[in-house]
Amino acid sequence: MKFYRQDLERCRENVIGVEGLSDAAFGVAMAHTQSGVTWIRENYESGKWPLLTLPEQRQDLESLSGIADLIKDQSKTVLVLGMGGSSLGGQTLQALAALEHTAKPQVFFLENLDGHTFSQHLKTLELDQTTIIAISKSGRTAETAMQVFAFVAAYRAAGLQDEIAARFIFITSPGDNPMRTLAAELGAPVLDHDPALGGRYSVFSSVGLLPALIMGLDARSLRTGAQSVLQDVLESDDNEPARGAAVLSSMAEANGRRTNVFMPYADRLARLGPWYVQLAAESLGKDGKGLTPIAARGPKDQHSALQLFLDGPNNKVFTILADKHPHDGPQIFGELVNKEFAHLAGRTMGELVEAETYALLNTLTGHRRPARLFEVDKIDELSMGALMMHFMLETIIMGNVLAVNPFDQPAVEEGKKLAADYLLNK
Ligand code: PA5
Repeated sequence: MKFYRQDLERCRENVIGVEGLSDAAFGVAMAHTQSGVTWIRENYESGKWPLLTLPEQRQDLESLSGIADLIKDQSKTVLVLGMGGSSLGGQTLQALAALEHTAKPQVFFLENLDGHTFSQHLKTLELDQTTIIAISKSGRTAETAMQVFAFVAAYRAAGLQDEIAARFIFITSPGDNPMRTLAAELGAPVLDHDPALGGRYSVFSSVGLLPALIMGLDARSLRTGAQSVLQDVLESDDNEPARGAAVLSSMAEANGRRTNVFMPYADRLARLGPWYVQLAAESLGKDGKGLTPIAARGPKDQHSALQLFLDGPNNKVFTILADKHPHDGPQIFGELVNKEFAHLAGRTMGELVEAETYALLNTLTGHRRPARLFEVDKIDELSMGALMMHFMLETIIMGNVLAVNPFDQPAVEEGKKLAADYLLNK
């Protein structure tokens, strides 16, 4: 069962001319993906990569649901603290729940660090009805630690010292790390973050699924969607992540297209953009290699960056995500519409969005700019799980093609160390 379609035709020479990939070039690029595909299969067989074994697991979801229910019962507000991969997966899933999710608790992801914003939150929060989920695989990330310390101090200042153990929950690696030590000192519960699971690959673990369950999402379906894509990779050499990796790496290496504009045309898919940016940038931006990911959003960015995309340097490849059935939203009745907007008469908002999506694709093709299209029939947990797994496996295969390690982030770690050194020496 497939929960999305990837259409690469608009990246091919027979559609956009010499800017596109010929059959021969695509064949060569596909051949280059096969060692990455084999790498994934070997690590599935050995069980070494939790990313590949999580989708088929179900037994852990029962206890995770229990924890989510407890948090829901005791909270008006849930704050998820964490940086990068410890936050973006959950945020991406939140977009699925956003519109239906008016009931308690409200979930906020405090990913960025800003003293002013933080103080504003503190002014409005009812701490005795708030639960704080602090996520840090390493347990050593300064921004997350700073937030945790500030909240602990706020609880103490509010005379809520005795509430702390029940109102904090930590997700961090086993073993010796400062976040774990702090959790023990506070008497707060800890869920283990699998040390073999990288932050940006962790959305199908408790990192993404605990917030998802609190928001009322179906964690099983998220994993089922992910499993469908993994199965494709395990069973077929001509799988969708490999096809995507072939086009992107070939566009970058052979055609010098080192920018990938990632542009969903649906608010429920919009948070995939920042998540994908981090996934692709941290995984592939190494040794002078990688494609620069740019998150855009349709149709709003048609009134912003589109001018550059269509008429600026022809050095990009576009990843467009379309909701295939956007026929929702208000319908505009004929008598309300004046002559200039006659084309809107009787149309729904969704129909206009759909028209803009496919018109943009045609325009890109007309400007000989390669675009790949992802079409989703229904935006739900199944398709979201499938899309996220697609992009993670595609990125791993690209890492293998580009000969970079898609799992480390040496420059990020260097940045963390430099900040600590700066404060120590100031
Ligand atoms: O994807 C990654 O590995 C990073 O973005 C990390 O998630 C981020 O730096 C936070 O690290 P940690 O979870 O150790 O606090």
